[in-house]
Amino acid sequence: MVAGAPTRPLRPLTNDTGERIQACTLCHGPQGRATPQGYFPRLAGKPAGYLFNQLQSFRDGRRHHALMAGLLRNMSDDYLREIAGYFAALDVPYPAPVPQPLSEAQRQRAEQLVTVGDPGTRVPACTACHGPAMAGRQPAIPGLLGLPRDYLVGQLGAWRTGHRRAHAPDCMADVAKALSPDDIAAVASWLAMRPAGAHPEPPATAPLPVTCGGLAP
Ligand code: HEC
Ligand code: HEC
Repeated sequence: MVAGAPTRPLRPLTNDTGERIQACTLCHGPQGRATPQGYFPRLAGKPAGYLFNQLQSFRDGRRHHALMAGLLRNMSDDYLREIAGYFAALDVPYPAPVPQPLSEAQRQRAEQLVTVGDPGTRVPACTACHGPAMAGRQPAIPGLLGLPRDYLVGQLGAWRTGHRRAHAPDCMADVAKALSPDDIAAVASWLAMRPAGAHPEPPATAPLPVTCGGLAP
């Protein structure tokens, strides 16, 4: 090893992963950074287990996007794991959040739901699973910041109708069904306005308020 030689890339990619990832960045932005607007979720820096679960879900029909399903159709789990690891390891800055119209009542309701939950409507605090900084948790709980408002509304709505599913037991389906459409609108705007940047927390040591599938490493 020559002193001062460049270090190896963070995640060396086998065969043609690099080329295939070009196709992903057409929609998800260079380095999977996305933008705070529109509908494309960021990929960079999300927990690898979470990204892997999503890729599997698009391939296997728990989530729906025709073009992505087509791209992923013939990819093995090992290959999906490699793509997930590639995007998870990208540590790139987040764009500035976008201001959203939000009344004082909506702001209070959203903050309550996210940080303490509402026992009356059986909504657990989002932070109980997504972490105190809402940055997500290894290995498979995503952060909630740095996502477009429309994407957040779309995902929570999709869970309510069964259009999006996660590995059973699908805890997020229970959470989303306990939220009213007004709650979803308020929470999505509140989250979309907050600056992102923290890294996912280590795995939970205490049990989560509801059991979630797909969290085993
Ligand atoms: C034509 C545009 C397009 C292309 C190309 C594309 N995606 Fe996506 N991707 C989307 C959209 C839109 C969503 C959100 C879909 C939904 O509503 O659930 C998404 C969602 C995802 C998610 C879930 C993110 C999250 O936070 O839950 C992952 C992971 C992902 N894409 C990975 C990839 C990878 C890897 C590739 C390349 C193999 C790729 N995508 C190619 C448009 C695209
Ligand atoms: C019991 C634990 C738990 C609680 C409580 C919880 N979540 Fe989740 N959430 C998860 C898990 C696990 C996933 C990943 C599911 C998957 O693999 O698709 C997730 C995923 C999500 C996603 C998808 C993010 C993306 O990039 O597509 C959103 C949005 C979300 N949660 C919002 C919320 C909100 C808002 C609350 C509070 C009202 C909340 N969650 C409470 C466990 C939880």
